Amino acid sequence: MKGLWIFVIVNILAISKGRKNVLFIVMDDLRPQLGAYNGPYFPGSGQSLMHTPNIDGLASKSLLLKRAYVQQALCSPSRASFMTGRRPDTTHVYDLYTYFRSVGGNFTTIPQYFKSKGYETAGMGKIYHPGVDSNNNDPLSWSMPYLRGDHNWEDKNHSWKGIPDSLLKDRPLIDKQIADHAINTLQHLAPAAKSGHKPFFLAVGFYRPHLPFVFPQSFIHNYPWSDVHVPDNQFAPRSMPTIAWTHSNELWSYQDIKDTKFTGDINTTLPHATVIKLRRAYYTSVSWVDSLIGNVLAELSRLGLDSNTVVSFVGDHGWKLGEHGAWAKHTNFNVDTHAPMMVKIPGMTDKGIVSEKLTEFVDLFPTLVEAAGVSPVPLCPENSATVSVCHEGQSLIPLIKNPNIAWKNASFSQYPRRHSHHDIMGYTITTDRYRYTEWVRFNKPTYKPDWNTVVDAELYDHQVDPNENINKVHYHSQSNIKMQLSQQLRAGWRDTLPSSAISHGFGR
Ligand SMILES: *[C@@H]1O[C@H](CO)[C@@H](O)[C@H](O)[C@H]1NC(C)=O
Ligand SMILES: *[C@@H]1O[C@H](CO)[C@@H](O)[C@H](O)[C@H]1NC(C)=O
Ligand SMILES: *[C@@H]1O[C@H](CO)[C@@H](O)[C@H](O)[C@H]1NC(C)=O
Ligand SMILES: *[C@@H]1O[C@H](CO)[C@@H](O)[C@H](O)[C@H]1NC(C)=O
Repeated sequence: MKGLWIFVIVNILAISKGRKNVLFIVMDDLRPQLGAYNGPYFPGSGQSLMHTPNIDGLASKSLLLKRAYVQQALCSPSRASFMTGRRPDTTHVYDLYTYFRSVGGNFTTIPQYFKSKGYETAGMGKIYHPGVDSNNNDPLSWSMPYLRGDHNWEDKNHSWKGIPDSLLKDRPLIDKQIADHAINTLQHLAPAAKSGHKPFFLAVGFYRPHLPFVFPQSFIHNYPWSDVHVPDNQFAPRSMPTIAWTHSNELWSYQDIKDTKFTGDINTTLPHATVIKLRRAYYTSVSWVDSLIGNVLAELSRLGLDSNTVVSFVGDHGWKLGEHGAWAKHTNFNVDTHAPMMVKIPGMTDKGIVSEKLTEFVDLFPTLVEAAGVSPVPLCPENSATVSVCHEGQSLIPLIKNPNIAWKNASFSQYPRRHSHHDIMGYTITTDRYRYTEWVRFNKPTYKPDWNTVVDAELYDHQVDPNENINKVHYHSQSNIKMQLSQQLRAGWRDTLPSSAISHGFGR
């Protein structure tokens, strides 16, 4: 009898608290070349939209952040950053080998926080970068067993491949396994979530459009050959410092690309037909995952959960599809740091809200916590190595209530390099009009920049040069703006936060 009463009281508390479930969807390597992003901040010029009806449909009921920037354009550093809500200089993760809990601190991640608040937390596919750099998908994050999925049909000989649909029934592609598992897990979680007994945090990470672009053959019909174009800037920016460059090694690791003799050197390109084939295969991979996302969202709705579930959708960074003659990520170019981000909050974003304010992926943690109605997470102090629960972003909820609110006027990203046996960090800010980067000596033991040793710098004026084809950092006419941007970059993200972010409470 006593047990029953406790059960009833817990139940009432859960319901009266009105905590929402969270469906947390991550896509890999997704550039915001989506219907919902059509307009001034669309990546690449002269490019067509991808066919993504399900993501666009989700965007139409979400807060859509048109100018969201990742903190580093590489899977593991970006994911370690947004999953902990802390920036790379706090997580100390800049590569694909380092685990944040071993080097940054024992930080509470987004799912781990929800787990600590009584949520069932389930993960599948690629949420963290899988491997040693996440201790195999960060076991502390999940209350249920993790499903990783099998990389059927993928090999190092083919950068892309269409598989006849009939062959996929017995050996499904990895993202199909993940979507099916998401649907089964939703069915399993639904009763307790609907009764208010146990809300869930369900993280679904899709692998495509990461290389190799392997997809069911039927999906390529969305992209007739004549609709796919090469980018109009297959060259490096004028006056670009070489330290800004990477050799597209990720693409180059596939045998079919090696066979073209592509080196990835500055101002070389792949054969025209290869560029088209790769772009088409990337687009097709995106449409394939879009259809799987449609299946998962349909099940959420069929189970009657969509009115009480926050849906968050992000890519982990952008991707060059031949822009500047380069491929993949690994740089501070806008096309790599700019990525899709949207949050659907039932009752708040139903009509769709588009924001062009500058936002950052570290904003996700405080946003999801506030959207779901669990207790808030504080802004991190200057040194947060021993603080388990905090974040270095800003909740995006105020943008829903007042789209014109005073907001941060820059996003911060970074990318490390080795140069003449030294560690260098390319610190970047993106403002309303400019992208400014300083490549400076980086002190690995202390994780601090040496601003007195600037190796090189870049300045792009997006108003006249949205594709970043001319580095104007040495233009005399730009010296004032360069000085201002340098000051803001060096002052850091904390000085860019508007006071509303620091004082923003929850009012309940
Ligand atoms: C990290 O923190 C979690 C609780 O948040 C704890 O269970 C775990 O033991 C900690 N790990 C280390 C290595 O301190
Ligand atoms: C890749 O190509 C090589 C050389 O043609 C071949 O020996 C190897 O079996 C291929 N691997 C796969 C996984 O197809
Ligand atoms: C690459 O080509 C562009 C466009 O022609 C040119 O402005 C730039 O200086 C070239 N870069 C190098 C390093 O040759
Ligand atoms: C951006 O915000 C910072 C910090 O509030 C301020 O110092 C700076 O003047 C602003 N820059 C612009 C261009 O508004």
